[in-house]
Amino acid sequence: MNCLMRRSQNLLLWRNSCVKHRSTDAASANRNAAGKLSYEEFIGHQQKQAQRSIIVQVSSEKSYPELYNYCSRFGSILGAHHYCVRQDEALHYVLLEYSTSGEAAAAIDSGVSNGDLCGVPVRSPFLWFRAPPAGSKRSPNLAPSGTLPALNAIDGGRVMESSQLLALVRGAQSIDEQVLLLHKHTRLNDLGIRLRFLAALQVQQAISGMFPTAQAQPFGSSVNGFGKMGCDLDLILRFNDDTGSQKGLAVSEPSRLVFHTKENLSNGRSQTQRHMECFGDMLHLFLPGVCHVRRILQARVPIIKYHHEHLDLEVDLSMSNLTGFYMSELLYMFGEVDPRVRPLTFSIRRWAQSCGLTNPSPGRWISNFSLTCLVMFFLQQLRQPILPTIGALAKAAEPGDSRVTEDGINCTFARDMDRLGFRSRNQSSLSELLLQFFEFYSQFDFHNRAISLNEGRALSKPDHSAMYIVNPLEQLLNVSKNVSMEECERLRIEVRNAAWVLESEVENVALPVSEGERQEHSWGLLNLFKHPEKPLIRPNMFFKPRMVEVSDLFEQKELTPSPSTPQ
Ligand code: CTP
Ligand code: MG
Repeated sequence: MNCLMRRSQNLLLWRNSCVKHRSTDAASANRNAAGKLSYEEFIGHQQKQAQRSIIVQVSSEKSYPELYNYCSRFGSILGAHHYCVRQDEALHYVLLEYSTSGEAAAAIDSGVSNGDLCGVPVRSPFLWFRAPPAGSKRSPNLAPSGTLPALNAIDGGRVMESSQLLALVRGAQSIDEQVLLLHKHTRLNDLGIRLRFLAALQVQQAISGMFPTAQAQPFGSSVNGFGKMGCDLDLILRFNDDTGSQKGLAVSEPSRLVFHTKENLSNGRSQTQRHMECFGDMLHLFLPGVCHVRRILQARVPIIKYHHEHLDLEVDLSMSNLTGFYMSELLYMFGEVDPRVRPLTFSIRRWAQSCGLTNPSPGRWISNFSLTCLVMFFLQQLRQPILPTIGALAKAAEPGDSRVTEDGINCTFARDMDRLGFRSRNQSSLSELLLQFFEFYSQFDFHNRAISLNEGRALSKPDHSAMYIVNPLEQLLNVSKNVSMEECERLRIEVRNAAWVLESEVENVALPVSEGERQEHSWGLLNLFKHPEKPLIRPNMFFKPRMVEVSDLFEQKELTPSPSTPQ
């Protein structure tokens, strides 16, 4: 909660300007001539891009021509992005992308320590651009304006103000278009992804001297295509690489020289906790930008949380959650298989957030990840499924798809969906699917049934958890074990309300409404999103009597519409 409050106080004010010179962006990078990048290719592309990039703090965007001119001596700059982080005052940063990682390294290596300030200098992609020494000439030969990628005013990285977003979504022509607009304007964009991979690279480079094979790999919503602007970064620090990214390296003969290692007598978990404690100290004491380091070492997956002040980013670093990494791959693949999957999930996640079903801090409520699993399961069990089952993907695996984690968990499944030959014949529109989702879970027997994405059908519940979602990769675990009876009941009530509201909205949209009325009032998707200050209720909306009253079950933040609500 604290973190949330701090976030809203220090409201991240991304004033990003994204300049394309000969650069790429995530959208184009995600597609190749044949169609799509696999998850591993996508991750590899982003990691390489991060290795070619540096982030330089400047006094304002006006410093950019001088910075460009200065930094061009190290190599060819492909593109530049400007963003701000607001603390007491706006801090300005420019991300420069070079054409090679060697050029970026040369720029970093030219960095010097700041003699005036204390602190051990650390090699990292985070630098600042100081004024030239007194008496020296400022910018002797500025680049001709034609060759300089000018910073323009594209707001590519900013979390859009909710009033602006509401106005945009109101202006849509249909509920389907509203769903698409919401996705388009709230999903994590190219700059957001770049910054997250730079945060990962910073950790990796910081420890590379002692741990040359260590990899800091982003996973979760930052890379699975379900992340929204401002989402946290989940990072796994790995010391033995067994992902596909390294598998391609042909080793003619295994080396006969083996690293000596330090023997540890304690068990694996306490050893990991001890190591993480040590990394936590290292990050806290030395890494520029890292602050508010918290160690949560008793959790099932021990993590170190920190805030990155140059990126205004919350980071969760783990060392033992490789299934989470592969789970992100599954979600990425699901998002790629059908263009309706991500926009639909974004609307559902936004709806859940607006009615308080989800909350950024962990607790007895459903997490975004569990909610995403509910959406994926819904899309699998349709009469005309939109997603294949994970079991089918596991069956279609080939030898190259084999992945087994260090603790022996099998994460083998076909990485290429095309191999399944799965083609959905489902033609439902986004609004139809949204309504079907709410109706499906209004009826779902959470009391007796467990959700299995592996099989794409409900199973008998193996224990008394309120909600049971079989963890697809660790099938003895329940993804939604944390959810309490009350929260599960609240979900059931809210999906029934949402089904009811959306049904009315779909009927209303068919009525002729003037453009002005559409712009002025919340309608369609927006009426699903309850708002504490003003209930988003369309003036001419009639409520049906099957509205479920929730007020006697829990304290509500917002008004539950009743048949007597002003129309
Ligand atoms: N994960 C998992 N099993 C869980 C919880 C999480 O496999 N019980 C994996 C998933 O791949 C998930 C990732 O860990 O995407 C990160 O978890 P979390 O941060 O909770 O969810 P996100 O998907 O990143 O969503 P958010 O934007 O809310 O952070
Ligand atoms: Mg996350």
